Amino acid sequence: MQKYIVQGGRALHGEVRISGAKNAAVAIIPAALLVDGVCRIENIPQISDVTVLLKILERLGAGVRFLNTTDVEIDCTHVRTTHVPQDLAHRLRASYYLIGALLGRFGEAEVSMPGGCNFGGVRPIDQHVKGFAAMGAEVREGDYIVARAREGRMKGANVYLDVVSVGATMNIMMAAALAEGNTVIENAAKEPHIVDLANFLNSMGANIKGAGTDTIRVFGVDRLHGGTYAIIPDQIEAGTYMAAVAAAGGGILLRGIIPKHMDCITAKLQEMGVEVIEEDDTLLVRRRGRLMRANVKTLPYPGFPTDMQPQITVALSLAEGTSIVTEGVWDNRYRYVGELTRMGAQIHVEGRTAVVEGVSHLTGATVQAFDLRAGAAMVVAALAASGTSEILNVQYIERGYEDIIGKLRSLGAEIRSVEYEDEELVRRQIG
Ligand code: EPU
Repeated sequence: MQKYIVQGGRALHGEVRISGAKNAAVAIIPAALLVDGVCRIENIPQISDVTVLLKILERLGAGVRFLNTTDVEIDCTHVRTTHVPQDLAHRLRASYYLIGALLGRFGEAEVSMPGGCNFGGVRPIDQHVKGFAAMGAEVREGDYIVARAREGRMKGANVYLDVVSVGATMNIMMAAALAEGNTVIENAAKEPHIVDLANFLNSMGANIKGAGTDTIRVFGVDRLHGGTYAIIPDQIEAGTYMAAVAAAGGGILLRGIIPKHMDCITAKLQEMGVEVIEEDDTLLVRRRGRLMRANVKTLPYPGFPTDMQPQITVALSLAEGTSIVTEGVWDNRYRYVGELTRMGAQIHVEGRTAVVEGVSHLTGATVQAFDLRAGAAMVVAALAASGTSEILNVQYIERGYEDIIGKLRSLGAEIRSVEYEDEELVRRQIG
């Protein structure tokens, strides 16, 4: 296993290029299953979630060929299998997109229950299932989710989502792209990756209107053809580097971003006293003096993203005064707080609210990454803390951050990844 060792307390300086968006890539790769032809997808992030999804497509019979490190050609023309085996599917949450994509293309799907980051609470998919059912599919949930379009092909329908769900919105869009007739998704999610998936599908011949608003109309077409598409930059990766500068100090230039996607994060950091200057596709982020307190409430886009909640909380733990963080999307996303308090943070969690009393400094410690963003928060905290920190379970972090070690080192951070033996595992093996 790998762990990160961080010598903290060094300000960050330099430039960093932001990779393609994880949460767009993990939907667009399965969406290639809908395409009868070769999709060339550019700006793919090199992260383990992407590697696993590409392996799943290959197992299903797709041709997958990397043209360079970021561009891949996927040919799903000869895919015939609709059964996705458990060993790979359970490794990531986004495997649920295979259900919508396979249902859309073949009218059937058999996908083992998706795994992925567990925040300690339930991650239901009832809204996905409700959408598929409205479109004429019969869905059985067990170890596998088995879905079948009663008439062989999905049928357009009106779907009103009871909660704003990114996953359900994208999954229903995929199931609807090749459906007979038109689908309307109301109370749809509006995240940049929703628009990205719609743009990808439209560039392959789909007819989707309204993505980015709360009503999406999908006019079913008979076939999608091959084409080329470039994935948007990762809003959360960029936001994580911004939070790192806020917490550890310094000034960095983020390259290859869409500043508009960053507004919800930029506004909060500016409120905390961080200087953020945007140009065409860059952001200059600089901390000047002590951070100021702020309240944060996470909400669906364009609200403050839940996937930035742990990282901004680390920065707030070093701000002057008391901040209130409210998690408005997930029931339980504060498991990392215990780790952070061991580094000296003063945070009290009550339900979905965290009261953060700013402290003057954090101290290095050995901490765990409980999930992807909790892990990113541990990196941010370790960079800001004085002394040495060790971060365990970094496989979670590598699911979503491309070359985080290389990028941080290029900003002057002292961070390295070393192999270690899981003592518990060794004990069990010896025992
Ligand atoms: N929900 C339901 N029923 C559903 C689906 C969702 O009640 O059928 C609830 C959830 O329990 C949650 C809320 O709706 O309270 C929002 O969930 P959503 O469906 O939007 O989340 P998701 O699609 O499962 C994606 C990202 C998450 C990110 C959320 C919210 C992927 C693979 N995952 O999850 O990203 O937190 O949207 O923006 O795109 C991450 O990248 O670290 C991550 C966890």
